[in-house]
Amino acid sequence: MEPPDLQRQEIWPVGNAGQQRRRAMAPHINEPDLEPTDMNQTVYSQSFKGIQHKRTLAQFSLENTVTVVTGGAQGLGLVMTQALVASGSNVAIVDLKRTEGEYQARKLLQQFSRENPGSKVLPTITAHFADVSKPESVNRAIDEVLEQHGKIDNLVTSAGFTENFAAIDYPYDRMQKCWGVNVDGTYLFAVGVAKHLIGRKAPGSIVMIGSMSGTVVNVPQPQAPYNAAKAAVRQLAASLAVEWAPYNIRVNCISPGYIMTALTRKILNENPDLEAKWTSLIPTGKMGLPEDLMGPVTFLLSDASKYVTGADLRVDGGYTIA
Ligand SMILES: NC(=O)c1ccc[n+]([C@@H]2O[C@H](COP(=O)([O-])OP(=O)(O)OC[C@H]3O[C@@H](n4cnc5c(N)ncnc54)[C@H](O)[C@@H]3O)[C@@H](O)[C@H]2O)c1
Repeated sequence: MEPPDLQRQEIWPVGNAGQQRRRAMAPHINEPDLEPTDMNQTVYSQSFKGIQHKRTLAQFSLENTVTVVTGGAQGLGLVMTQALVASGSNVAIVDLKRTEGEYQARKLLQQFSRENPGSKVLPTITAHFADVSKPESVNRAIDEVLEQHGKIDNLVTSAGFTENFAAIDYPYDRMQKCWGVNVDGTYLFAVGVAKHLIGRKAPGSIVMIGSMSGTVVNVPQPQAPYNAAKAAVRQLAASLAVEWAPYNIRVNCISPGYIMTALTRKILNENPDLEAKWTSLIPTGKMGLPEDLMGPVTFLLSDASKYVTGADLRVDGGYTIA
């Protein structure tokens, strides 16, 4: 299928567009498909702003690095990719939705050129297919990234999904799929990238996208396998942080709370009363937006966090401490 019209969506709207959409959007969880999605629904609210003159620590820069983002074609993965490009990283988007990944890679590059007109060097942003739950597919994607970028320094594992079924009715094949994508997919990519880093004797940083569901039980929607999967992701990050510390590879987890993406929107569309219930349990009184992950992921991948490993950074508006 042809990539959608590049004009169909303005990436990086500025101002408070995100807040406006926060009010307008109905909240949801979804099962990935193989078609490009309607990205008009995706929230973007932070601009590169080109060369900006606000002083900040150089340690936050990701200049000269290559970062792989699984699930980077949409949702949290795509918005985190925007943050990484803005911070100087080259990025390889890996997703089931290759066409959407390619479209977004081109869009990111166009945006960078527009906002950095004097820049002589453009970031390299590529898109690759992988089903992260399949070892051969993961290895093929890693080989392809290495062919095109020459190295990998960092990894963000954002590919994942959830579904709601009562445990006694949960279809076994769906449970396996849930664990396959969220747990095996995270593990396989982390191991593949760590092998490369260890072989290259290079330092690296891995950020696994878990969920607050790995620590608390969401109510009222039933999603026991997803909760267990995300607990596994958090513990994988801690375990691999210890195992790979001697190789100077840091591994951390980000555990988002309820963030407005295609995943949460689907759940809320199917259960309109849920949004009020969810927000009533969030101390800050609102769901998060994808850009709320931009700072946390940049921090954890960069030297700004060079003594942080095995951490679980909750980005949940205080949900899990209330
Ligand atoms: N949105 C939230 O509120 C929320 C909260 C906590 C955790 N999370 C986690 O954040 C991550 C991203 O969620 P999102 O809201 O952006 O979801 P999303 O559905 O918008 O995006 C997920 C992306 O992962 C890709 N993907 C799914 N299965 C894949 C596979 N087998 N191989 C390769 N790519 C695959 C999809 O194609 C999609 O591009 C997930 O791991 C999710 O569990 C989300």
